[in-house]
Amino acid sequence: MKAQFFTLLAVCLLPTVMSEGSSADWCYHLHTCNYTTWSHTVVEHCNGTQQSPVNIVTTDVKEDASLTAFNFTGFDDNSTVLQIQNADGKSVKVGLDDSKMSVSGGGLPGVYKTQQMHLHWGNGSSAPGSEHTVNGKQYPMELHIVNMKSTHPNISVALGDSTGLAVLGFFIEATNDTGYPESWKNLTSYLSSIPNKGDTVDIMYQFTMDSLLQGVDRTKYYRYLGSLTTPSCNEAVVWTVFKEPIKVSQDLINLFSTTVYINTTNHPLMTNTYRGVQPLNTRVITTQRSSATTPYHTLSISTTTTAALLLYSLLSWL
Ligand SMILES: *[C@@H]1O[C@H](CO)[C@@H](O)[C@H](O)[C@H]1NC(C)=O
Ligand SMILES: *[C@@H]1O[C@H](CO)[C@@H](O)[C@H](O)[C@H]1NC(C)=O
Ligand SMILES: *[C@@H]1O[C@H](CO)[C@@H](O)[C@H](O)[C@H]1NC(C)=O
Ligand SMILES: *[C@@H]1O[C@H](CO)[C@@H](O)[C@H](O)[C@H]1NC(C)=O
Ligand SMILES: *[C@@H]1O[C@H](CO)[C@@H](O)[C@H](O)[C@H]1NC(C)=O
Ligand SMILES: *[C@@H]1O[C@H](CO)[C@@H](O)[C@H](O)[C@H]1NC(C)=O
Ligand SMILES: *[C@@H]1O[C@H](CO)[C@@H](O)[C@H](O)[C@H]1NC(C)=O
Ligand SMILES: *[C@@H]1O[C@H](CO)[C@@H](O)[C@H](O)[C@H]1NC(C)=O
Ligand SMILES: *[C@@H]1O[C@H](CO)[C@@H](O)[C@H](O)[C@H]1NC(C)=O
Ligand SMILES: [Zn+2]
Repeated sequence: MKAQFFTLLAVCLLPTVMSEGSSADWCYHLHTCNYTTWSHTVVEHCNGTQQSPVNIVTTDVKEDASLTAFNFTGFDDNSTVLQIQNADGKSVKVGLDDSKMSVSGGGLPGVYKTQQMHLHWGNGSSAPGSEHTVNGKQYPMELHIVNMKSTHPNISVALGDSTGLAVLGFFIEATNDTGYPESWKNLTSYLSSIPNKGDTVDIMYQFTMDSLLQGVDRTKYYRYLGSLTTPSCNEAVVWTVFKEPIKVSQDLINLFSTTVYINTTNHPLMTNTYRGVQPLNTRVITTQRSSATTPYHTLSISTTTTAALLLYSLLSWL
């Protein structure tokens, strides 16, 4: 499980170890080094025509009847949330158990295994840092849940498929109370254990993915085809951006920009970890039909486990 997590980290967020593209380091929002130059200084895909994030102009969004409810498997299981990591001084990432978690339905072309989630933020709740924007509005933070098409053997293959990855994006909005909700209080309590680049701690059995997403109607979302929002920006992502934000109290949001560092504690804090919006070009953003009322349902892990055990016992007969 651990090996799996680190393999994924290596390929998903550490541009320096990617086999393709240049190994040049990159940054988000410094005067001397920022996302505006990725397309010519970093790697080959960042100059593409189907890049992410984008600004969602709600009046241009088209309805698509194929955007049905999602199936979330293992999101109600607290054993699927593995470790939290200061990922290369660029993000905070949580490793998820892709042998127990998956996403399907939602108009996705198949089943996608859930591998990790990570966050993008600005500088506290009043200096926003979401990647996608809606009618120009930028939210304080954005959560990304990264899923890989189950038929692909590894990320290298997935990055060569325009729908190889499915990323679920959730906006995070600030509330005025404190320590809310409990799941986010619990998650953020581990930030002080990962101040330095590469620090990792185990967070199994503390909370579920469902508890982090509480309050969001997961039948309401936008859909478009785009890219990774970090170099090498491969155009391999089916994007889902949920309309309703997750509500998290401002004190917890502030912890991200005041607790974790880009390298070690004598270096700058990790702030403004978002790419600016990219041109939509000819792409059209879609959403489910407004008449669609099918409720989503969360599959309990026990169903899947039972199925897996059944399959295992069948196989052992052969
Ligand atoms: C981004 O970086 C470029 C090149 O280093 C620089 O010219 C530009 O002023 C920077 N932009 C901002 C907003 O800092
Ligand atoms: C992006 O850059 C690569 C490598 O420099 C080049 O081959 C390609 O034509 C560029 N693509 C676009 C859309 O500019
Ligand atoms: C949800 O998952 C169940 C069990 O894997 C499957 O039977 C059902 O068809 C799935 N629904 C969708 C919409 O994919
Ligand atoms: C972030 O906000 C703090 C407190 O307002 C400020 O001191 C710091 O300079 C800001 N950092 C950046 C990178 O804007
Ligand atoms: C990914 O899988 C493909 C097909 O099985 C294989 O050729 C390739 O070597 C694998 N790449 C990595 C990095 O494991
Ligand atoms: C939070 O408090 C500030 C200042 O007291 C106020 O301007 C803002 O509207 C409040 N936000 C919410 C969501 O209640
Ligand atoms: C996180 O949740 C676990 C399990 O309920 C609990 O033991 C721990 O005290 C919680 N931590 C915080 C900071 O809430
Ligand atoms: C984790 O899930 C198990 C099984 O559902 C449950 O017994 C346990 O109380 C949960 N732990 C926490 C901290 O919620
Ligand atoms: C990060 O910190 C380590 C240990 O202090 C140091 O060796 C390294 O040069 C630092 N890297 C950067 C980019 O500052
Ligand atoms: Zn992301």
